[in-house]
Amino acid sequence: MVKTYLSGLRASWRSQSPSIRLIRLWLGVTWIYGGLDKATDPHFLGKTGATSISRVLTGYAGSSPIGFIFRHLIERSTLVGIVVMLSEFAIGLATLAWIAPTFIAFTGFTMSTGLWLAATWHVKPYFLGSDTAYAILWLAYFLALLGKRRRIDISLDRRGAIRLSLLGLGSGLATLGGQLTQRSLKASPEQLAKQIVREADLAVGQTHEFAAISGQPAILFRTANGVFAYSEICTHQGCTVAYFPKEKVLVCPCHQATYDPFDGAKVLSGPAPAPLEKIRVEVKGEWIVQL
Ligand code: FES
Repeated sequence: MVKTYLSGLRASWRSQSPSIRLIRLWLGVTWIYGGLDKATDPHFLGKTGATSISRVLTGYAGSSPIGFIFRHLIERSTLVGIVVMLSEFAIGLATLAWIAPTFIAFTGFTMSTGLWLAATWHVKPYFLGSDTAYAILWLAYFLALLGKRRRIDISLDRRGAIRLSLLGLGSGLATLGGQLTQRSLKASPEQLAKQIVREADLAVGQTHEFAAISGQPAILFRTANGVFAYSEICTHQGCTVAYFPKEKVLVCPCHQATYDPFDGAKVLSGPAPAPLEKIRVEVKGEWIVQL
């Protein structure tokens, strides 16, 4: 059985034209990478951080023409994240490994179209949105697989279904491995503590912008009562907020959400659904550090 599969796999690559092979290789490798990238991202399944699926879904809910779907998915964000991770990995692997090829190509097209509606709908000009290009690539690959067949058939035969199930299992193990690896590599809070600015260089009443450990832009405040900091990523659709010292507010330039940094960054006005993410900072020795 393995021998038959391997000779079929070899034949699948040999029988395709160089251009289709290139598309297949690109799609396969990129989607495996996409799945692994999410599996090894410590913030992806969490509720905080710029790459958190929960925050991403919140953004889609407010901006996508199918936002009503995402609104229902926000409370199941962890499950959605696991499904996305597994699907990307499995679709990439199945594409390279010639498992249920037409079914997988159609699934890739459907997923890319969904991502286009969710994430790149508002990108202007449209050609800057990568999901549009991926949807077209998947569609071209799917049509190439159909060839001259008149009937569009994406059904699975028994063998294809068994291989897909095995692949699903393999993808699950791979993504679980990725999650476990990133957890074991995660440093302790003490190791992660990041020096932001010397306390002596930040007078009381001043602010200081910095890149948080997660990579997102952040802003630090020093008052007579101590130090505190927030992510500058707006909780509406992820634009970067700016501080207006005269008014003592943080304002998002995209849809004017306004936050009060002296009251937990709560929303004062605008469409933002939640306060800005708080970032843990404290004074350690002569430095102000992020924990
Ligand atoms: S992104 Fe819309 S208010 Fe900030």
